[in-house]
Amino acid sequence: EPEGTLLPRAPVVTIMGHVDHGKTSLLDALRGTDVAAGEAGGITQHIGAYQVTVPSGDKVTFLDTPGHEAFSEMRARGANVTDIVIIVVAADDGIRPQTIEAINHTKAAGVPMIVAINKVDKPGGNAQKVREALLQYDVQVEAMGGEVQDVEVSALKRTGLDELIDKILLQAEILELKANPDREAEGTVVEAQLDKGRGPVATILVRKGTLKVGDIFVVGAESGKVRALIDDKGKQVKTAGPSVPVEVLGLSGVPGAGDTLTVVENEARAREVAEYRAGV
Ligand code: GTP
Ligand code: NA
Ligand code: MG
Repeated sequence: EPEGTLLPRAPVVTIMGHVDHGKTSLLDALRGTDVAAGEAGGITQHIGAYQVTVPSGDKVTFLDTPGHEAFSEMRARGANVTDIVIIVVAADDGIRPQTIEAINHTKAAGVPMIVAINKVDKPGGNAQKVREALLQYDVQVEAMGGEVQDVEVSALKRTGLDELIDKILLQAEILELKANPDREAEGTVVEAQLDKGRGPVATILVRKGTLKVGDIFVVGAESGKVRALIDDKGKQVKTAGPSVPVEVLGLSGVPGAGDTLTVVENEARAREVAEYRAGV
C-alpha cells in the first residue's frame, strides 16, 4: 500500500535493565516527574509510555519497562515496538540477569542500543568495570573499541542527562525515522486493561497516520470507535500522530498487548475484520 508523504517522526526509545537499576528514576529525571516515588514497593509493573520535549525542542517517546524478572514478556514487547533501546546498568551493581535478558531482547529485535551507566554518584560505582563486563555479552562500547554509545548518568543527581539526550538524537538522526501523518492510523497496543469507570482502555503507540476521535478501528479481535483520546499527561486530545502514545477509549473489549490497531472505513468493515481475526 502506498505510504504517501513521509515526514520526520519522534524516535521511540525503550528503557530496559535489571530491577532497581534506576530506569523509572532516569525517566523521571528526563521528564521532571516523580513516578518512581509513587510505585507500589518501588517496583514497576507495567509499561509506561511518555512523550518528552527535550531542551532542543525535539520530541522523544519513551517506554519504561519493568526490571523485575516476572515481566520478561513486557521487555520483549518493549524491544519490539521501539527504534532505540537504552540499557540501564547501575554502576554499583553491574551486569545482572535482567541486564543480560534486555541485551538479548535488543539484539533479537535488531535495534540499536545506548548503555546508560546509572548511579555513578554512589561510592561503590565503577563505570569502567561495567564497560569491561559488557564485553562478555558482545556489547562493545566506544571506549572499548566498539560502536555502542555509552553515557555515565545519575538519575538522582540529574547528571549526564544532556549527553544521554544528545546520543538519543544522534542515533535517531542516523535512523532517519519517518511516517506519513496524513493517512488512517495504525498503532500498537502497549498495554490494555478493563477500567472500572471507563471500560476497556488501551494505551496505543501510533506508528503511522493520525488517530482521531470518532475513528472506527479494529484492534486484535476487538473493534470500536474512538470515544476519547487521553495523552500521557491525562489530558483529552482530539488527535494523536506518529510516535505519540495515547490512551484510547471506546473499545468493544480488552485487546492483547502487542496487538495492532487499524483504522477502517466503517463499522461493517470493522466487524468483518474483527470476526475474521477472532476466527468466528
Ligand atoms: P524497576 O522498574 O522496578 O525494575 O526499577 P527501576 O529500574 O525503575 O529503578 P527505580 O527508578 O525504581 O530506582 C530504584 C532505586 O534506585 C530507587 O531507590 C532510586 O531512588 C534509586 N536510584 C535510581 N537512580 C539512582 C541514582 O542515579 N543514584 C542513586 N544513588 N540512586 C538511584
Ligand atoms: Na524499582
Ligand atoms: Mg521502574
